[in-house]
Amino acid sequence: MKLHIADMLRGQAKEHISFHTPGHKRTGGDITELSYSDNLYNPRGAIAEAERDIARILGAERSFLLTDGSTAGVFSMIYALRLSGRRSVAANAYSHPSVSHACKALGMDFVPAEQEVAYGIPRQPSAEALSRALERADALLLTSPDYYGFFASLKEARSLCLAAKKPLLIDGAHGAHLHGCPLHAGNFADLWVDGVHKSLPAFTQGAAVSARNGWSESLAEAVHTFRTTSPSYPIMASVEYGLKYPRNEAIEQASEALKRRHGCLKNDDWTKIVVPFGDRCGAAQAFLESHGVYPEFNDGNYLMFYLSPCTKPEELERLSALLAELPRGEVHLDAPAGGIPIYSEAP
Ligand SMILES: Cc1ncc(COP(=O)(O)O)c(C=O)c1O
Repeated sequence: MKLHIADMLRGQAKEHISFHTPGHKRTGGDITELSYSDNLYNPRGAIAEAERDIARILGAERSFLLTDGSTAGVFSMIYALRLSGRRSVAANAYSHPSVSHACKALGMDFVPAEQEVAYGIPRQPSAEALSRALERADALLLTSPDYYGFFASLKEARSLCLAAKKPLLIDGAHGAHLHGCPLHAGNFADLWVDGVHKSLPAFTQGAAVSARNGWSESLAEAVHTFRTTSPSYPIMASVEYGLKYPRNEAIEQASEALKRRHGCLKNDDWTKIVVPFGDRCGAAQAFLESHGVYPEFNDGNYLMFYLSPCTKPEELERLSALLAELPRGEVHLDAPAGGIPIYSEAP
């Protein structure tokens, strides 16, 4: 598939004397919005073409490139709600802090949908918990999949929102690799974020936020408020690249096989391998890192290993061989073990 932004950058004139930002003056791919490079605020060239392709890939009416992470997407979605007159949003009690920050900044009420904690992990809210929270709010915002690879009750949430005539939003910061699959946010939500940089080959902070069912105009206004006016072209090109990168079914299967072999958490997302080490988490992490293997996080109960279609089979085999050497400890059963690094406590 054509890569509009990367091709545009490659086609630059050989001689390019920079009297423009950025100050490093090396030009190359890290340029600013110039006569030939289009403009994120009002795209008509390569950026517009990339955003059109991305919307098609994600099943959206419109998609917007983000170079400021999923955080900017969450703020934009919640502002789109505010622009449409909504004043409250029900969301996972253990949402990413961007949700409560956006609510606070935008004067929206955050209505927590209860999450039980089982084996040290906040489980997705039940359909009943979603229903109770939605009764008290103007919209529903789910995190799906979450950092541990669990999905929200997406079908039930869609039905609840349809019946209540309230919009459904999904924070898919961890789900961009699912486009084209049944559990992708775009099959259920009115507004959603794909955190492309987390599970697809894109530079850190590369993401997209999307709308359908008539939400495009409010979202366009909202992203203009929260996006940078100095977008990084390498990041934008990488988001387009990441979303056009082919699936890697061999690594998907190898991940599921490793999970079975090593008694990992039975989640539904091949990109997230969650290994219960309990009170031996720290020692396991130190051992692995002394062999050059770095997990995504250690929450005090579990080590989590994040994969993507670019994970190499030999690296997964190395992880498997090292895991086999490591003893497991006791998992703290009730509370999240003090360490889920980025999830806020329920307000
Ligand atoms: C569920 C969730 N939403 C949103 C974000 C924010 O994403 P970003 O760091 O790309 O801004 C994160 C970050 O880890 C997250 O885990």
